Amino acid sequence: MHTGETITQFISKEQRRISGASGDFTALLNDVVTACKYISSAVNQGALVGVLGTASSENIQGETQKELDIISNDIFLKSNEWAGHLAGMASEEMDDVYEIPSEYPKGKYLMLFDPLDGSSNIDVNLSVGSIFSILHCPSGVTDPKAKDFLQPGTKQVCAGFALYGPSTMLVLTTGNGVSGFTLDQNVGEFLLTHPNMKIPADTQEFAINMSNQRFWEAPMQRYIDECLAGTTGARDKDFNMRWVASMVAEVYRILTRGGIFMYPADTKDPSKAGKLRLMYEANPMGFIVEQAGGLCSTGRERILEIQPEGLHQRIPVILGSQNEVERVISYHRDA
Ligand code: AHG
Ligand code: MN
Ligand code: MN
Repeated sequence: MHTGETITQFISKEQRRISGASGDFTALLNDVVTACKYISSAVNQGALVGVLGTASSENIQGETQKELDIISNDIFLKSNEWAGHLAGMASEEMDDVYEIPSEYPKGKYLMLFDPLDGSSNIDVNLSVGSIFSILHCPSGVTDPKAKDFLQPGTKQVCAGFALYGPSTMLVLTTGNGVSGFTLDQNVGEFLLTHPNMKIPADTQEFAINMSNQRFWEAPMQRYIDECLAGTTGARDKDFNMRWVASMVAEVYRILTRGGIFMYPADTKDPSKAGKLRLMYEANPMGFIVEQAGGLCSTGRERILEIQPEGLHQRIPVILGSQNEVERVISYHRDA
């Protein structure tokens, strides 16, 4: 039985490192943790509590929402709006910034989140997760608008995700390495089980949706062709492939045993620069991956340095083991 440090103890210690943190940050993170526990419970009970299936609505990206997308979004809002730590929130499932209701005090942080990532997995009982990114609210701003959220990923105070898999896990960084916690369902607490997570620099495992291959640009075609050729090609080693269709699960796997995950730009829908969203998918995952010693790039630039242009902006994502991501970047440079 594991009786290690609880996430609350861990965050309290981390807070002492954050300039200007007063206790708000610990309390905010506690509310995020509560939201993840509620979502974990809903995901776990599934059909027993009638949360599966498709809703009759679309989000701003034109994606059909699942019932659990909406439920999880609501859980995030309700868990985090009341305590006075946030000045505003933004979500994959909401067109515009969510204003803190007037009956509640406002705080100094902003939070962006993807309440349920990989939601196409939910009805088939595979892994899903939640992703969040916390920023400082610009000083003097009490009524934040979208432009106040559009800060590059390097400005994140904290990023994390929950993975609702065989175990419910929470992975977190505040810029001082990456820590993984496992939910002890009996105790109701996340316990530190994976301190100082590190991504090995080399890997022989890649993750990409191969069905899009004919739509990729030349550098991606080259990289994947070489992986597939294995010992018979330029790489002189064989590769294994995984695709969970849930970025949270892919990033967790990469944190555990290395790998490279790619959702590159493609010509399938020329209006989209990629599939994944910068503000609540790529930036928080990029922060975590870099803190674990990996890299996160579009193939042409470091994702965390991109000046965002919109809350729901999409970008190509290539992340994971350093030497493989560097290789993909070099193929883009060559082209
Ligand atoms: P979401 O469920 O939040 O819309 O995100 C799903 C994302 C990501 O998690 C995953 O890697 C990718 O979409 C899967 O895309 P394909 O269905 O194209 O494989
Ligand atoms: Mn997502
Ligand atoms: Mn989602």
